[in-house]
Amino acid sequence: MRGSPSSRRLLQRFRQLTISAIGSVKIKLLLACCIAFTLVVITGRAAAFMGWRHHVTVGSSPPRKGYTILINTWKRNDLLKKSISHYTSCPGVDAIRIVWSEPNPPSDSLRGFLWKTLKSNSKDGKEIELRFDINKEDSLNNRFKEIKDLKTDAVFSIDDDVVFPCSSVEFAFSVWQSAPATMVGFVPRMHWVDKTKGSAEYYSYGGWWSVWWMGRYSMVLSKAAFFHKKYLDMYTNQMPASIRDYITKNRNCEDIAMAFLVANATDAPPIWVKGKIFEIGSTGISSLGGHSDRRSQCVNWFAAEFGRMPLVSTSVKAIDSRHIWLW
Ligand SMILES: *[C@@H]1O[C@H](CO)[C@@H](O)[C@H](O)[C@H]1NC(C)=O
Repeated sequence: MRGSPSSRRLLQRFRQLTISAIGSVKIKLLLACCIAFTLVVITGRAAAFMGWRHHVTVGSSPPRKGYTILINTWKRNDLLKKSISHYTSCPGVDAIRIVWSEPNPPSDSLRGFLWKTLKSNSKDGKEIELRFDINKEDSLNNRFKEIKDLKTDAVFSIDDDVVFPCSSVEFAFSVWQSAPATMVGFVPRMHWVDKTKGSAEYYSYGGWWSVWWMGRYSMVLSKAAFFHKKYLDMYTNQMPASIRDYITKNRNCEDIAMAFLVANATDAPPIWVKGKIFEIGSTGISSLGGHSDRRSQCVNWFAAEFGRMPLVSTSVKAIDSRHIWLW
C-alpha cells in the first residue's frame, strides 16, 4: 500500500477534506459568535428602551406649561369622542378647544360624554379645560380664529380624523419648545416651480409621494401641527382679508395659508417630526391626492397675494433618538 500513487492521492483528499471541515467549523463558530453578540446587543438595547419607557426620570423634565389642543370637527361626533378620550390621557395637555361650525349646537349627550371622560382622566388634581368655540358661519377660517383666553403659548392643531399616540405628541411638543416660532408637524407637503406649465413661475403642490420622491418638504399641514398662539391672531387680524375670502369661497387651503403665514414671519422652513399616525376617519381624500390641482392654484394665488413665495424647503426630519437603534 505504502507508496502506491493512488493511496497517496486518497490521503491528500482526506487531508483536504478534514481541513475544509475544520474550516467550516470555524466559520460556524464565527457565525454563532456574531449571532450571540447581536442578541446581546439587541436585548441590551431593548432593556434600555424598556427602561426609558417605564421610569422616565433621567434628564427628562416635565413639560413646562403644556399645550392646548385645537380640534376641528364637522358632524362626526363619534370621531370627536374617540379623539378626545385619547388626548385627555396625554400628560402635556392643558386645555382642549373644539372648533364647532355646525348649525346646531353640541348636544347635551355629547357634552355629557366629554365631561365624564375628562373627569375620569384627570389625575393628580390636574384638570383639563374643555371648551366649544361655537361659530355662526361655516368657514374653514374658523379653525384659526383668534382665541383671547388661551393659557398656553403652544397650540396643537388637529383634525378629528387623525390620532397620534401621546408619545409622538409630547415629542413634537418638545421639538416645538426648542423652536417656538416654527410650525412643527407630522404631515409634510411640498411645492416646487413647475417648468412644464410654461409661465416663468408656476408652482405645483405635491403630496406625500412628492415629499417621498424628492426627500424635501416646505409645509406641514395644520391637520396635525404645533404652532404659537400668536399665529391665530395674525391669521385672523393681520393676514389680508382677500386670502380668508378666497378660502371661504373655495372651501379649501386654510392649512396652506397658515403655512404661508408662518413662513412669511420666520423666513424659515417648518419642522417635520416622525410620529405614528392613526387615521380613524379614513376618508383619505387629502392623503391620497387627486385634488392637488386645486391645491396648486391656492399656492400660486397666495404667492401672488403675499407678493413673493415665502415657503422655504428643507430635508430635516426630527426623530426621537430613543427610538432608533443604529446611529
Ligand atoms: C410678510 O412679512 C412681512 C415682514 O414681516 C410683513 O410686513 C407682511 O405684512 C407679511 N405679509 C403678509 C401677507 O402677512
